[in-house]
Amino acid sequence: MKIPSSIWTLLIGIVLTLASFWYGQNHGLLPAAATDEAVLVDGLFNAMMIVSTGIFLLVEGILIYSAFKYRRRAGDNEDGPPVEGNVPLEILWTAIPAIIVIGISVYSFDVYNEIGGFDPHAIHEAPMSQESMKMPGHGSAFAQRAGTALAATLSDTPPSTEPNLNQEKSDEAMQDPATAEVRNADQIPQLRNAPGVGIVAPTIGGTPDKAGKPAELQVNVTGLQYAWIFTYPETGITTGEMHVPIGREVQISMTANDVIHAFWVPEFRLKQDAIPGRQSEIRFTPKKAGDYVLICAELCGPYHGAMRAPVVVEPQEAFDKWMQEQLVASKETLNQAIAVNPTDLSPNEFLAPYTKDMGIKPEILHQVHH
Ligand code: CUA
Repeated sequence: MKIPSSIWTLLIGIVLTLASFWYGQNHGLLPAAATDEAVLVDGLFNAMMIVSTGIFLLVEGILIYSAFKYRRRAGDNEDGPPVEGNVPLEILWTAIPAIIVIGISVYSFDVYNEIGGFDPHAIHEAPMSQESMKMPGHGSAFAQRAGTALAATLSDTPPSTEPNLNQEKSDEAMQDPATAEVRNADQIPQLRNAPGVGIVAPTIGGTPDKAGKPAELQVNVTGLQYAWIFTYPETGITTGEMHVPIGREVQISMTANDVIHAFWVPEFRLKQDAIPGRQSEIRFTPKKAGDYVLICAELCGPYHGAMRAPVVVEPQEAFDKWMQEQLVASKETLNQAIAVNPTDLSPNEFLAPYTKDMGIKPEILHQVHH
């Protein structure tokens, strides 16, 4: 019995669709999805995978089938039939990809929106002043001239009412004896939100229903060659690894001390640049406990590849316990610092306790501070 070609087409269509849907969900190409946002991104990725698998199987299937079916037989030396164009077919195979591409772009924009990507209210205008336009650190003649010129053109612009997100850190730095050497407005890069005109602080993450509300946990992240430093403003602790509890929305506010770095945790499916003198934000809700790695995703120097930090997603109790440990540890460090660092000691008195360990005779110390 000969099966009609319409039945064959239908059967092949069903098999292709089922195979594409199966592979689209079971490709195993992505790492664990550890945040609510990751689930959305994976939905988009899987949809594209389904479409790609279908097209791949269809095109390769027809190619292989035709190569066998229409191969040259022994003794056949004739030319093939002259085939002219086919307008309905051309229209069909232009229309189908167009519909697929439009569908994917609408879906991607929707996901981008869903994780807070397009939020016109999240745009922060940087405060503008002549000083903020100087290059941090160097203040080259060119930058100053350019800054003056721009300030002159834009002097009508009302001053921004946006609070300087770095003010607190900057104030801290101004109090710190360690920064006395560079305690000069344009040498502390975080003094201002942005060294430029109309700089926009990029913000992604944060679902629309939560937009505008403060996140439940705030973590400040600083990138520097070649490390990540995390500060928890609520408790004031500073660490080299990031812990976040499951189910609470986290807001990361990040900046960089030297060059551009990028905050990337593959399991979170979010990536954001950390930019010197500028505050960028990212929001997410951790969902799956585990030990992950924060990887710097911007070529930032010779040891860029080593710029990684542990990220731990854990239940609330474990997070609280960790936070307590950090608080105790930081208090101990502080007590030690106070015990050995009274301000009224002279340099040799101050250094005396260390000289024994270092094998330096006390007499030598007297010469050191001259
Ligand atoms: Cu920091 Cu690459």
